[in-house]
Amino acid sequence: MTQLLDDVMLIGKAEVGKLDCHPIALDVVQFCRDLVDELHPSSISNHHITFVSQTNILYAYLDEKLLRHILVNLLSNAIKYSPNGGTVNFHLGYQNGEISFQIQDQGIGIPTIELERLFSSFYRASNVGNISGTGLGLAIIKKAVDLQQGKIAVESEVGVGTRFVVSLPLQQEKIYEQDFSH
Ligand SMILES: Nc1ncnc2c1ncn2[C@@H]1O[C@H](COP(=O)(O)OP(=O)(O)OP(=O)(O)O)[C@@H](O)[C@H]1O
Ligand SMILES: [Mg+2]
Repeated sequence: MTQLLDDVMLIGKAEVGKLDCHPIALDVVQFCRDLVDELHPSSISNHHITFVSQTNILYAYLDEKLLRHILVNLLSNAIKYSPNGGTVNFHLGYQNGEISFQIQDQGIGIPTIELERLFSSFYRASNVGNISGTGLGLAIIKKAVDLQQGKIAVESEVGVGTRFVVSLPLQQEKIYEQDFSH
């Protein structure tokens, strides 16, 4: 319930333009490693996250809180929608001034015709069965990606798995302060 309220507040803030983005120079490889350690499913679960980075050192100007929202939500979805376990592949790469975060699972997949609605608040795909959720995670991710001038793409096949790719510029053009209250 607390998580749900936090998510609703966050979406509300983003809708009225009050979600701030404060990019700082971030050691992205270390940030991802720490996150994977933190989220690593317990030894009793049959999930595994493998993290592979194209490079050992990668610094970028990103908002730590927003990046955390993006990656925690994507990784937890990958685990949650793989009820039979399996490996979640997390790949960090960069090219042409952009960082890419790829998260691929071997889970239930998403029906093709539903892909375009995934980023709307409260939307859940028709094949979720009894897996719980509120449908806010991806809506928050989309706002956090937009605020950092990035893109998000998804490919999926029902019964095979899903891949999300978030691309963010290494350096944002300006520091965003979306607070119109004064
Ligand atoms: N990795 C995935 N595999 C299969 N379906 C997914 C995956 N990620 C998202 N989905 C589908 O997209 C929908 C929206 O995802 P989103 O994260 O916004 O909401 P949720 O997981 O249902 O709830 P929560 O608000 O707790 O995150 C999900 O309900 C599910 O149908
Ligand atoms: Mg979710």
